[in-house]
Amino acid sequence: MISKQTIDKIFSTIRVEEIVGEYVQLKRAGSNYKGLSPFHEEKSPSFVVSPSKQIWKDFSTGKGGTAISFLMEIENFTYPEALRHAAKKYGIEIEEDQREFSEEAKNAQSEKDLLYKIHEVANDYFQNFLWEAEEGKSIGLAYFKERELKDDIIKKFQLGYSPEKKNAFTAYALEKGYAKEVLEKSGLSIFPENAPNGIDRFRERVIFPIHSFSGRVLGFGARILKNNVKTAKYLNSPETEIYHKSNVLYGLNQSKQAISRKNICLLVEGYMDVISLHMSGIENVVASSGTSLTTEQIKLIKRLTENVTILFDGDNAGIKASFRSIDMLLTEGMNIRVLLFPEGDDPDSFARKHPQDYVEKFIENEAMDFIDFKAEILLKEAGNDPIKKAEAIRNIVKSVGFVQNALKREVYLKEVSNKFGLSEQSLFNELDVQRQINQNQTQHVQQQKENAPVKMEVVPLEDDKGDPFLYDVLFMESKLVDHMLMFGDVVLKRTDENNTEYQITVIEEILHHFEEEQYEFLVKGNEIIIDQVKEGIKEDELRSGNFFVTFMDEQITSKVVDALIPLDELENWASRNIYPPNYGDKVAEQIKGDVLLHKYRYIDYLIKETAKELDHSADEGKYFELIKKITLLKQASMKLNDIIEYSPIKGIYRDRKK
Ligand code: UTP
Ligand code: MN
Repeated sequence: MISKQTIDKIFSTIRVEEIVGEYVQLKRAGSNYKGLSPFHEEKSPSFVVSPSKQIWKDFSTGKGGTAISFLMEIENFTYPEALRHAAKKYGIEIEEDQREFSEEAKNAQSEKDLLYKIHEVANDYFQNFLWEAEEGKSIGLAYFKERELKDDIIKKFQLGYSPEKKNAFTAYALEKGYAKEVLEKSGLSIFPENAPNGIDRFRERVIFPIHSFSGRVLGFGARILKNNVKTAKYLNSPETEIYHKSNVLYGLNQSKQAISRKNICLLVEGYMDVISLHMSGIENVVASSGTSLTTEQIKLIKRLTENVTILFDGDNAGIKASFRSIDMLLTEGMNIRVLLFPEGDDPDSFARKHPQDYVEKFIENEAMDFIDFKAEILLKEAGNDPIKKAEAIRNIVKSVGFVQNALKREVYLKEVSNKFGLSEQSLFNELDVQRQINQNQTQHVQQQKENAPVKMEVVPLEDDKGDPFLYDVLFMESKLVDHMLMFGDVVLKRTDENNTEYQITVIEEILHHFEEEQYEFLVKGNEIIIDQVKEGIKEDELRSGNFFVTFMDEQITSKVVDALIPLDELENWASRNIYPPNYGDKVAEQIKGDVLLHKYRYIDYLIKETAKELDHSADEGKYFELIKKITLLKQASMKLNDIIEYSPIKGIYRDRKK
């Protein structure tokens, strides 16, 4: 675990504009920066970064937060991953909070660290060898050139070369002080009895490093250079403590941004397919590396998009084996399409033959939904045999049965019905049967699924427009909380009834108001913020905007960021229906007025609620009590109305009710 001190240090050192600036081209706009949203294709910039507040806001998707939450969004990092990434960039040493770990866990951690380290060393070694050594250049690099790879793409995928010499890397790593045991565990070296100096696993092969989601090297694939040798074309790292083949997708690290931005993932089979597509500018692609797709791999994709297009070689023998992958993708709720390349082509050769535009259009136009795809394959096989035909249709309905969403399931079934001219009723019956079979097969998987944690409910303002009284209170309640977040530590000069001047912070004044009214919050998120503010006061800590920005509750953070990003310096927002709040120098007056208005509307709301109670009250004693309450509330309301009417603050408002 990263220590609290380190986290504080990271937050106080990193600059949001620098971190975001690596992904988004930012231009000055007043005291802010603007750019095109990295999460959404757009033409006019709606992405704002505030260097003074150290936050960002994306108006096209509504997302916003700190530099750390930006990294979490764009790289799909977990919180600690994002912290570590930022720390590395700024050269901040991470202090681990060791108390959390048992001795055993600590050792395991350092063992894993060593494995990561040795892979980094090997990765550098293979790359250096490719670019610097004679053998590397004349054999490895020449091979890549023959396959038409450009220098920048070779570097992007960190391709390398392992020399012919039996123990070149092993000797190098031992020399550098890495232990035999680590080398053995990493799968990079073996130490048979007759070769005490060790043997490299990969020899005389070009090297494809396999990266984790966040870019650490977990293992390698290594291709032999001649196609006719009687040994496996690719040798891969064995399963190790850091490399679990079924949890990794080749190319994910290099492709994740494009997958997320385009909201679709292309799935291919081979290393070279990923690399060639990247070279032609199509960067939203990953490979399952020749193994059948696993649920873990699908979940990795699902972090980025729910749309997958599977690309198959034209002469692929394993197409029928892919049916299982299709069913698994459907079970995970993915939308899938399938594309068959023309005979003799795979994504690699096709991408090298045609320009990017053509390939993109081809994929877009030729990809079929899974029903058409399965129908094409299975019906071709069935020919005119009616029994085989029925079997094919049953097979397709079975896949429809894996679709999780009932509405989508129905749409697909209608498609099957139209396609084969069969009645929907008989297909529905078949669907029931197939779903029962599917369910029995996947039951144990279902049981493993944990109950999703319950999310905090924030009453959305829009939903309450039905009750204008309630909506008005909600609106002002949120506005006051926004003031606390924006101006919490601003000191206001006030005079009391004896005309004595006193000073009070915005937080204190608004908090005082809520407490005086014994106000019960209508929006859960506001209540959480106020509770935190009170907690802070007890601990002599001022909890305002910056505190909440790093508060790890997504909904709170985005509310806070909304309150903190001022829009007044940005032109053209009106066309998007975003209006700059009229804050500025008028803080003191504004807050005084908003407190009064909140109170006024709250009282109105209470009057209405009490009147409702009165309508339903049969008890005479209660009846008079309620009448009295309404009278008092009405008096208070009139008094407030006068204050607001004759106050200079009135001009600030365009009261929506009048
Ligand atoms: P392919 O034979 O299609 O390889 O296997 P490829 O990527 O197109 O390679 P080139 O174009 O011949 O260089 C697809 C994937 O299956 C795995 C690799 O991950 C490969 O990229 N594979 C294949 C192995 O792991 N071992 C093998 O012996 C062959
Ligand atoms: Mn190939």
